[in-house]
Amino acid sequence: MTQPRTILGIETSCDETACSLVDARGYVRINKVSSQVDLHAQYGGVVPEVASRRHIEACLPLVHETMEEAGVRFEDLAGIAVTQGPGLIGCLLMGVETGKALAWRYGKPLYAVHHLAGHLHAPYLHPGEGVGAHLLIENGEPGPVLPFRHGPETEARLLEPSFPHVGLIVSGGHTSLVLVRAPGRTEPLASTRDDAVGEAYDKVARILGLGYPGGPIVDRLAAEGDETRMPFTAPMRRKDEADFSFSGLKSAVARKIEELCGPADEKGIRSIPISEETIRDICAGFQATVIQVLLEKSFRAAKQSGVRDLLIVGGVAANRGLRRAAGRNAPKGLRVWFPHMSLCTDNAAMIAGLAWRLAPVEGSAALELNPEAGLALG
Ligand code: KG4
Ligand code: ZN
Repeated sequence: MTQPRTILGIETSCDETACSLVDARGYVRINKVSSQVDLHAQYGGVVPEVASRRHIEACLPLVHETMEEAGVRFEDLAGIAVTQGPGLIGCLLMGVETGKALAWRYGKPLYAVHHLAGHLHAPYLHPGEGVGAHLLIENGEPGPVLPFRHGPETEARLLEPSFPHVGLIVSGGHTSLVLVRAPGRTEPLASTRDDAVGEAYDKVARILGLGYPGGPIVDRLAAEGDETRMPFTAPMRRKDEADFSFSGLKSAVARKIEELCGPADEKGIRSIPISEETIRDICAGFQATVIQVLLEKSFRAAKQSGVRDLLIVGGVAANRGLRRAAGRNAPKGLRVWFPHMSLCTDNAAMIAGLAWRLAPVEGSAALELNPEAGLALG
């Protein structure tokens, strides 16, 4: 049997160099991420110049590794997809230029993909042979991770969210609710007035001295903590306030620690050391508040838009507490979809996958393509 032709995806918008091959059915053949987390951990966040320098070193070798491991030749590709924006300009530039050079060298179409539209496409992907796909919560029932289905394209399509749907994008750089009318076609419903939710996780982790990136660490500690011991007030909860705000919540966490343990000196040391129990309870209290706000606003937006499906995507969609709470609290009649765990944080499968979907409608990009740091979601 001949393999369906594949698209090579390249993603370099922030601190992950990522490369993937996805076929026409949204089946991910290979998904490689070269993370820069260790490099940035010492600074407690992403340093743009350091990130773009690492992309220069990592991008082309990762492309070759991906092709070799999957046993695919450049000549056999159907096209090359790159993240055009939004993101850090020096980082985006590396992926876009690499994609352009390969497209020119092998005479392949080049596809330009919006990073957030890519995240919104992640629940449509099947992460690999024998691996469970997305998490679907239906009628308030926390469903199992759906099994990967081998079979004709139509069978895979049956397991997809319908259009229009509401998308909640929660990542390190973005927090917004959008109405998705068709693949890559969105209308804004709400966004954050200050910090993105992933950014709030990273800042809270820094205040607590937990390391970077903070999201997965806070998530793990929250699961062991008591969320009722250190409750925080949920920001912007009024029904007429569609937007999010997380900087006040982050400051409330900082104030609480100061109240309990005194201010930190320049080395981050406090007069009373924070106990592990307090750290866990603060993480639990913070996370419970974040989840409450995210789900309340998303469920309300889905109801007001009259849609059947809600997609929760981006790095924070990997949060186990959020996935569990969505399962417990989703209103009847609303289907809630999360990408597979491996496809929540930045990856190139979502870029290649969306390029496949959009290619017949939008065609390919010119080789003069430029990255755009502030590219708007269309
Ligand atoms: O989508 P992503 O990889 O990059 C951006 O486009 O920003 O998201 C990264 C963000 C980071 O802020 C990280 O702390 C957060 O996602 N994150 C999480 C979890 N895993 C990653 N936040 C909460 N819980 C998690 N399990
Ligand atoms: Zn992202």
